[in-house]
Amino acid sequence: IKTIGVLTSGGDAPGMNAAIRAVVRTALANGLNVKGIRRGFSGLLEEDIVDMDGKSVSDIIQRGGTILYTARSKEFMTSEGQDKGAEICRKHGIDGVVVIGGDGSFQGAEKLAARGINTIGLPGTIDLDIACTDYTIGFDTAVNTAMEAIDKVRDTSTSHERCSIIEVMGRNAGYIALWCGIANGAEDILITERYDHNEQKIIDNIVHRKQMGKKHHIIVNAEGIGDSYGMAKRIEAATGIETRATIIGHIQRGGSPTCRDRVYASTMGSIAVDLLSKGASNRVVGYKDGEFVDFDIEEALAMKKDIDQYLYDLAKRLSK
Ligand code: F6P
Repeated sequence: IKTIGVLTSGGDAPGMNAAIRAVVRTALANGLNVKGIRRGFSGLLEEDIVDMDGKSVSDIIQRGGTILYTARSKEFMTSEGQDKGAEICRKHGIDGVVVIGGDGSFQGAEKLAARGINTIGLPGTIDLDIACTDYTIGFDTAVNTAMEAIDKVRDTSTSHERCSIIEVMGRNAGYIALWCGIANGAEDILITERYDHNEQKIIDNIVHRKQMGKKHHIIVNAEGIGDSYGMAKRIEAATGIETRATIIGHIQRGGSPTCRDRVYASTMGSIAVDLLSKGASNRVVGYKDGEFVDFDIEEALAMKKDIDQYLYDLAKRLSK
């Protein structure tokens, strides 16, 4: 292998830049050339490819977002698009690609690998919803950003003796909601993996706690639950307690990565290049049981993951 490409795909996540930096610098140290493929698979098909050197990644480790930009590509989902992508890699002399993104991006990496371009996937998403790994690049920063935002809502919620619903991101997964729910001492955490849609139970709980003298009631909603504004209206109508909903939104996707995101993303970036240098392909790097490991992409995509039942029970126990 002589030249590798690196791309970010799907939703961006803080720490992606740290991973890109590690890919570039490790590749140079291993005697490889590196090309940045901008705007994910979509940019690959448009040949939006730039040469990278050690300098092109200086001053980025502390920055959120991705200097390579990111996109979701419909064309690359077709086999014609995948053939074209592999052809473009060959034309540019790219014989290995590091793909940083989520499950959808790994499927793209698998298709390239099947067409003779060696690929390694790195888990980059704030949602933590990748089954083969306990850690994804960006989750730590996102959950800290959300936690700080919820602390702020809590201040005003207590002053006004209100109920506050705060919706966090996560697509269909409840990891951000669960972690924030515990870290912010929420009274209720609603996640798609466990919510039974019994709103009356929540209403009874709010009334009961108010009677016990609680000054506020914080509900952390996972994005997948949806309708936080509607829920606030219904709770206010049923309890007579002023209720507000806050959707934190894309703030959670930005910002300077935490130390953990910088260090783990750097480690994963470096591992990806070492794997390519050894001739490996069609692998995903993960972090499992305290160790960095790698899996066959197909095997990784077939894995299932659920939220940690111990943490979920803990959240309930501590909110009493
Ligand atoms: O996957 C990351 C994520 O931020 C999800 O939590 C959210 O559902 C989605 O991306 C939002 O995507 P977009 O930025 O395209 O609206």
